[in-house]
Parts: sequence; structure tokens; C-alpha cells
Amino acid sequence: MGKKDKSAKTEKSEKHAKDERALDEQHSAQAEKPAKAEKSDKAEKSAKAEKSAKAEKSAKAEKSAKAEKSDKAAKAAKAEKSEKSAKAEKSAKAEKSAKAEKKQKKAEAKPMADAAPKDEHAKKDESAPEGSRISTPPSARRVLILTGGGDAPGLNAVLRAFVKRAVSHGIQVLGSEDGFSGLLEDRPRVRHLDEAAVRGILPRGGSLLGCSNLANPFEFPVGPKDKRTYEDRSERVAARLRELGVETLVLVGGDGTMNMGLRFQKLGMPVVGIPKTIDNDLGATDFTFGLDTAVDTATWAIDALHSTAEAHDRVMILELMGRHAGWIALCAGIAGGADVILIPEIPYDVDRVATKIRERSAAGSTFSIVVVGEGAFPAGGEISTLTKGRSGHLPRLGGAGQHLAQLLDGKCDHEIRVTVLGHVQRGGSPSSFDRLLGTRFGVKAADLCAEGRTGRLVALRGTVIRSVPLEEAVAKPKLVPPDGELVTAARAVGIEMGAA
Ligand code: F6P
Repeated sequence: MGKKDKSAKTEKSEKHAKDERALDEQHSAQAEKPAKAEKSDKAEKSAKAEKSAKAEKSAKAEKSAKAEKSDKAAKAAKAEKSEKSAKAEKSAKAEKSAKAEKKQKKAEAKPMADAAPKDEHAKKDESAPEGSRISTPPSARRVLILTGGGDAPGLNAVLRAFVKRAVSHGIQVLGSEDGFSGLLEDRPRVRHLDEAAVRGILPRGGSLLGCSNLANPFEFPVGPKDKRTYEDRSERVAARLRELGVETLVLVGGDGTMNMGLRFQKLGMPVVGIPKTIDNDLGATDFTFGLDTAVDTATWAIDALHSTAEAHDRVMILELMGRHAGWIALCAGIAGGADVILIPEIPYDVDRVATKIRERSAAGSTFSIVVVGEGAFPAGGEISTLTKGRSGHLPRLGGAGQHLAQLLDGKCDHEIRVTVLGHVQRGGSPSSFDRLLGTRFGVKAADLCAEGRTGRLVALRGTVIRSVPLEEAVAKPKLVPPDGELVTAARAVGIEMGAA
């Protein structure tokens, strides 16, 4: 090989070496680059990882915080919801029970017979009396009140006070219409009495429940008037009361009603009595309500008769109620300034009456007022009656004034007129005394029911309301003592009493 070739070869190999070195450098540079890159990548990665871990952690924390928060919120919402739903449930329940209560009150305000078909028991036993269908079993202690015999001013005061007091004791009150009639008839007439039922009745005469002196369960009239027979239906009444869940029978009445009360007590139906009569003839109490109003009315009548008697120079005879007791005649006669008072307790001598009239004329008083109790009669004579009255019942009194007018005729020169005041004495608004006494009796009777003290009668003794055994109500009538203080006072002011 020539020199030229050799050097060319050398040059070539040098170049090759150079290239190779360059390549190596390049390679190593390239090799260094990925390492560096790896390193930085790693760092980056680790940074990233750290970051992401941190992020993840914080995200997790955030998430869990959020979750916790949302959990709490959910829980709170749940709690709120459940509270709300509890409230809603409570208010729904309250609304329901208010509705039920309203419905019950409405039903109770109705006569019991009206609501009868709604009762379960009624569906089972259509033959049961309607009153018993609706109201068994009672949801509370229950008593039944009725106003027996004739009415008397103050009855509504008794009913009002009794109901109010009984309700305050948690006792339900039923009322039988028209005395025992409401319990005796095939379709009972019995109604619930609550405070709303007795509102506004205090000044009213009569009785919210109505009265009857014909409905006697021990002698119940059956059939038409001309073929009438009498049945003992007392067992039926007692059974009906038991069906109604009545624990005590409360009787507002006079001696006749209290007699029935005693018999029911013996039949096992507990009784509480409240004395009532304008006649004031019940021995167990110093006063019955009704007397005071009757006396007020009769006194007003005497006042009215005075002017017309004077104008016509007449003898005016005023016949007043009271049966065999002279309380109304004596009290009104004294209060009205009568000249003569004749009472059943003092059989009269008509000549004494005529003498009094003549003496007055001689003294310049050309008229006279004579008050006569319907049960008054002349000594040796008889009580004037309108009808005999069936066996075991009092006759209807009437005619005492007319009888006296006939006896006086020819014994004095005056024209004589007779006024029979009659049932006016039992009507009208009760006096404040009767409202007060009726209220006190009603309250006491409800207390006796609450305490379970039955077989008793409420009574005024002196100034105090007490209770006495029912037997005392019928033991003996309370008549005017002929030598008592009232008669003495009458005589002291110049009133002729028809006998010495
Ligand atoms: O007992 C009250 C009384 O008013 C008596 O004074 C009177 O004789 C009798 O009732 C009247 O009864 P009746 O309302 O049945 O006519």
C-alpha cells in the first residue's frame, strides 16, 4: 500500500475514533440524561405521590369531614323529621281526640234515644230500651236526677248546681224527663245533662226536665181513663237504671217522691233526696225552696186585692195553696196585712170571722181581706176537695174559699168575692232566697253522691245545710204549730186566726 493510501487509512481511522468518541460522549450524555431524568422523575413522582397522598389525605379528611358533616346533618334532619312527625302525630292525635270529644259531647247533648242507633249494643239487641243502648257501659261514674211531683220555683237552680258540682267531681249526670215518666215508658226519655245543658236556667221557673205527679213507678196507670188499672213497674225502673249504669238515683221532690225514694233504696237502688215543695211541709228540713216565691206572689196578690176591696167596700177572700199545711197562707197573710187568716192547723169558727169583719166596719174600715189556706176547714166540718184522688193518693184540694163565702153569707152586709190564686203561686221566676237555697241543696246532693252517702236527704237546719236519713223526710209532715211564734205574731198585730 502506498503512502497516500496509508495516511488516508490513518486519517480515516482517526476520524472513526473521533466519531466513536463523539458517539460515546453522546451515548454517555444520553445515558446520563435518563438517569437524571429518572432521578428528577422519581423526585417529581415522589413529590407528586406525596402531593397526591396529601391531596388524597386531605380529600379523604375533607370527605370524611363532609361525610361526618352530612351524616350529622342527615341525623339532625332525621331527628328533626322524627320530631316533626312525632309532633304531627301528636297534633293529629290531639285533633282526633278533640274531634272524638266534640262528637261525644254532641251526642251527649242529644236526647239519648236520638243517638241510640249508633251504639254497638243497639245492633245486638234491638229490643233493649233505647236509653240503655246508647250509654252502656258509662265512661265515668253516673247518676240520674229527676224532678218528681209538682214543680216549685227554684228547681232549675237545684239542677244547675247539682250538674255543675257533679261534673266537677267527675260524675256524669243523666236526667229523666217528666219525673219517673222518662224511665217508665217503653221508649225511655233520658238525656245527658252537662254544664252547657244547664246554662242560663237559674232565673227560670218550672223545671228543665219537666215534672209529673202521675208517674208513680209503684202504681203506674195503664189503659184508657175509664178502664184504668195500675201496675207496679218499680223493678223495671230499677233494672233500667242498672242498664244505664246509674249508681245513684237523685230525687227532687216532696213527701210522695221521697216515699218512692225509700222504696227504691230498699230495692237496692241507692237514692239521694232533695226536698222540694211550695207547701214547706217536709219535717226533715226547716225550709223547702219554692215557699219563698209562692209567699211573694201571694203577698203581691193581697196587695192588689186591697185597693179593689177598698174601692167596692167588699170582703175579699183569697184562697192559697199549701195542702194540709198553712205556711203559705200564714206567711203571706202576715206579710200582706190580711185581716183574717184561716189555716188547716186551726179549724175555724165562722162567727169569729164575721165578728171581725163587722168590728172593722164599725171602726170605719169598710172592707176586709180574708186569706184562707186550701186545706182550712170549719171546726166540726170537712176539708173542701175537688176530686177524691185514687187509693193511696191525696185528694185534689179546692173550694175552701167558696165554702167560707157560703158560710159567711148573711152574717155580714158586704158583698163577698173569692179569688183562687192557684198555680200562679208555683210559676214565675224564683226569688233570690229560693235560688240560693236550691243552689245549696244541689251542691250538697252532688257531694253526697260523690261520697257515696246515699239513703239521705239534704236539709236546711237553722242556717246550715246538712243531710239526714231519707226516712226523716216522710216520718211526719211539718205543720204550722197553732201556738207557735208565727201565729202569736199574727194575733199580736190584730189578725183573726178563726179560733182562740
Ligand atoms: O203540693 C204542691 C201543690 O201546689 C199544693 O199546694 C196543691 O194543692 C197541689 O200541689 C196542686 O197540685 P196540682 O198541680 O196537681 O193541681
